[in-house]
Amino acid sequence: MATNYDAIAQEYQASKLMPWRKHIEAYTYFNLIGDIHGKDVLDLACGDGFYTRQFKLRGADSVVGVDLSAGMIALAEELEKAKPLSLTYVCCDAASISFDKQYDLICASYLLNYAHDEQSLKAMCDAIFKHLKPGGRFITINSNPDYRGTVESLLPYRFTRENKSFEEGAEIVYRFYQPDDSFVSVTNYHLERATYNRVLASSGLNEIAWHTMELSKEGEQEYVNDFWNVIMNDQPVVGISCRKI
Ligand SMILES: C[S@@+](CC[C@H](N)C(=O)[O-])C[C@H]1O[C@@H](n2cnc3c(N)ncnc32)[C@H](O)[C@@H]1O
Repeated sequence: MATNYDAIAQEYQASKLMPWRKHIEAYTYFNLIGDIHGKDVLDLACGDGFYTRQFKLRGADSVVGVDLSAGMIALAEELEKAKPLSLTYVCCDAASISFDKQYDLICASYLLNYAHDEQSLKAMCDAIFKHLKPGGRFITINSNPDYRGTVESLLPYRFTRENKSFEEGAEIVYRFYQPDDSFVSVTNYHLERATYNRVLASSGLNEIAWHTMELSKEGEQEYVNDFWNVIMNDQPVVGISCRKI
C-alpha cells in the first residue's frame, strides 16, 4: 500500500539531510529546472515544502505546493509561518487539482511513482497538462524503473531500495535510516519506462527526456575514494522533463 506520510512526516523530513539528497538529487533537479526567475511554479507532491521554499528563494514569482498528506502540509505551513515566503499550500491529490490558473513550470519530486497503474498515471499527467501554460515545462524526479541494484547496495548512503518484482504496479520499498539507526519505510510503485513515455505523450506532453543523475563537484570533493560509485553506476532515481507545446 502507498505510504501514508502523516505518520512519518518528521522522519521523512530528516531523510532530506542525507548527503546524496544534496549532492545528487537536488543538484540534478536544479540543473534540470534551470533559471526559475519570474516563473509561476506549481510543486506537486511538495511534502514539507523542502523544494517549494527553494524555488521561491531561487527567484520564482509565485509557488504553490500541493500534497496528499495533511501531516506534510502541516509541516510546510509551520515552516511558512516561522519564515514567511508567500507560499501557498494545498492538501489534495495531485490528480484531482482544479485551479483556475496555468503555470510556467510544474515540478514534482517523487509523484509519478505513486501511480500503481496506467490509469492513475494518466490522471496525474492529465492534471499536469491542464495546469501548464502552452510552452510550459514539467520537470520531475522519480524512482528509476531501470534500477536493478541489490537491496543493500545503497546502505552507504543510509537508505535501501527493494523492488518486490518488476511487474507493472509492483511495490518498491525504500527504507531511510535515521541518525539513531532506526528507519522509516516508504512504498511506491514500479511502472516501466515505456509506460511513462506512453502516458506522458498521451496526455499531450512532448519533448520527453530522461536524465541520469549528476554528482556535484562539491560532493565529489567532500567524499573521496569510490564513495559515490555505487549510486552513480546503478541509479535508484532519475529525472524526466517534458513540455506542453
Ligand atoms: C517522497 S515524498 C517527496 C516530498 C517532496 N517532494 C520532497 O522531495 O521532499 C512524496 C510525497 O508525495 C506525496 N504524494 C503521494 N501521492 C500523492 C498524490 N497522489 N498527490 C499529491 N501528493 C502525493 C506524499 O504525501 C509525500 O509527501
